[in-house]
Amino acid sequence: MTSKNALISALFLVNGLAYGATESLMEGYRNDGAGPFSPGAGRSAWMQEHSFPGDVQTRNCARCHGADLTRPGRHVRTGKPIEPMALSVNPARLSDPGKAEKWFRRNCRWTLGRECTPQEKGDFIQFMISQ
Ligand code: HEC
Repeated sequence: MTSKNALISALFLVNGLAYGATESLMEGYRNDGAGPFSPGAGRSAWMQEHSFPGDVQTRNCARCHGADLTRPGRHVRTGKPIEPMALSVNPARLSDPGKAEKWFRRNCRWTLGRECTPQEKGDFIQFMISQ
């Protein structure tokens, strides 16, 4: 096998793994009665602003991840860069369902003041896949 072919096979493998993990997340949400999922609903929820008493600025997912998922984000409090969220440019995204759920829990609580529903998580994932 040429090294180029090896590279292509490796890329397919990585994509395949990421796809499998994403599918298993979506399957879980469907089993909870959610779906169908829509990238448009995911985008609206991503941009939806939430206010909290005492906060000067509103919160949304874009505050840290940006509105353009193909570009890196920046953590609003620590200033640290965050890798792009779009699977097209960052295939490592959503490749580990445990990690994805952990961050959904944490980020939904911070941004919305509550955990996201399976429907919301499925829509967010569709948005990330579509970009
Ligand atoms: C306060 C900053 C901040 C906000 C706001 C935020 N996130 Fe995050 N998010 C992070 C950080 C930090 C990580 C972990 C670092 C990484 O994965 O690059 C992360 C990771 C994630 C992941 C894990 C992706 C993976 O690699 O599997 C998902 C999913 C996610 N965020 C979704 C959301 C959604 C949906 C919202 C809005 C409801 C949101 N985030 C709002 C900071 C934020």
